[in-house]
Amino acid sequence: MSKQESTRRDFLKTAAVSGALASVAIPAVHAAGDEVIKVGIIGCGGRGTGAGDNVLHAAPNVQVVAIGDVFKFRTDSCRNTLLKLNQNDQVKKLGNKVDLPEERCFTGLDCYEKVINAGVNYVILAGPPGFRPQQLQAAIAAGKNVFTEKPVSVDGPGTRRVLDAYEEAQKKKLGVAAGTQRRHQTSYLEAMKRIHDGTFGEVTAMRAYWNGNGIWFRTRDDLAKKGEKSTDLAYQLHNWYHFVWTCGDHIAEQHVHNLDVCNWAIGKHPIKAVGMGSRLSRPVGAPGEVGHIFDNFAVDFEYEGGVHMLSMCRQIPGTEANVSEAVACAKGQWSTAKGNVTRDYKGTPIWSFTGRDNSPYVQEHTDLIESIRKGAPINELKNVAESSLTAVMGRLTSYTGKAVSWDQALNSKEDTFPKQLSWDMQLSIPPVAVPGKTPLV
Ligand SMILES: NC(=O)c1ccc[n+]([C@@H]2O[C@H](COP(=O)([O-])OP(=O)(O)OC[C@H]3O[C@@H](n4cnc5c(N)ncnc54)[C@H](O)[C@@H]3O)[C@@H](O)[C@H]2O)c1
Repeated sequence: MSKQESTRRDFLKTAAVSGALASVAIPAVHAAGDEVIKVGIIGCGGRGTGAGDNVLHAAPNVQVVAIGDVFKFRTDSCRNTLLKLNQNDQVKKLGNKVDLPEERCFTGLDCYEKVINAGVNYVILAGPPGFRPQQLQAAIAAGKNVFTEKPVSVDGPGTRRVLDAYEEAQKKKLGVAAGTQRRHQTSYLEAMKRIHDGTFGEVTAMRAYWNGNGIWFRTRDDLAKKGEKSTDLAYQLHNWYHFVWTCGDHIAEQHVHNLDVCNWAIGKHPIKAVGMGSRLSRPVGAPGEVGHIFDNFAVDFEYEGGVHMLSMCRQIPGTEANVSEAVACAKGQWSTAKGNVTRDYKGTPIWSFTGRDNSPYVQEHTDLIESIRKGAPINELKNVAESSLTAVMGRLTSYTGKAVSWDQALNSKEDTFPKQLSWDMQLSIPPVAVPGKTPLV
């Protein structure tokens, strides 16, 4: 697809979203000064509920006023958990509250539009990443500030839509913060300050690990037990972690955190990736055999100027866990593997973080709300879009067995999102990728 075609297509998608919302009355959108922050949460699972709790502890004059999820059992449980926070001392002290009558708890595939239009000025996006481009565009088209979980896209077309949304948010002066929370964590900020000001010397190499064990999966029975129809779509949305169109594979879903730290350290995105991976621990017929994602990746990312980053991520039960980042600089290596320390090349610490760390999950909301109230909103969407595309580039090289450039990943025609969604549609499960056979599109 030519750049012109891609721009036109993205414009049409944006126009369609804006058009769909134009017929609905949109209430006051900005939340400048001391105006109450009225939060709407889209995606009411673990993180959406957790982010609701976090935002209520982040700043004064915050109310959670709308929630939405595709499943009613999820909105019910989120609502019940959040309503209990009205008894929380700190929430009360801040003058915050949860105001969630049944009529502002939305379910279904269009729940995101209903939340956006429920009188909110601050939208939390915490559903599966595959929906993020659509939901980000809709929230920003409607003039809302956004806290978005990571990753923000799972393929090239989705990333292009998010970059468009970034530009639109800039023009409208909307605040956007992302759930790459290390960027709001004191220990990381202190280390980055020193990497960026050259205290440790020039960056020469980096590594990023999210090596962990197995992950959850949910059976079709589980949906039926919760009173939901177990259609193909319902099953895939309930098990969103296991499908590329919803999650981007675990290199995107989880490892994006560590890739983001490396991009942050060096101040740019990689230009090329060469990688490999496979699916070893989820054989057909095994209890955890759901979906088609890999369970291990190892990718060499190259940056302009010749610096490389070694990335590994694994979800294999019984293996050794290591979730950390390291940046080798001329005078020593900073690493988060054990503490947050920089050692010279004889192993002697030359700096370590000894202060008290903060709660980045709360801080990210504090920073976003403060910036909105000051009239100088932060916008982290470009950074997180670039880190999401870094992960996509790693997946593409590992799935295909070909080297993949940044431009190939960004301009990829592989739109993983189904053309249209309905509860009763047939939604087959793609085969597991085979390097050397799976094409690069
Ligand atoms: N920043 C972090 O440290 C962190 C930690 C955990 C999760 N997350 C991110 O949060 C997101 C959600 O993860 P989770 O652990 O809460 O998963 P979860 O499965 O607990 O929740 C996801 C929810 O989204 C709902 N959903 C599915 N499709 C939807 C749609 N189209 N619209 C609205 N809701 C939909 C599901 O029903 C479910 O309730 C993921 O992107 C994940 O990467 C970030």
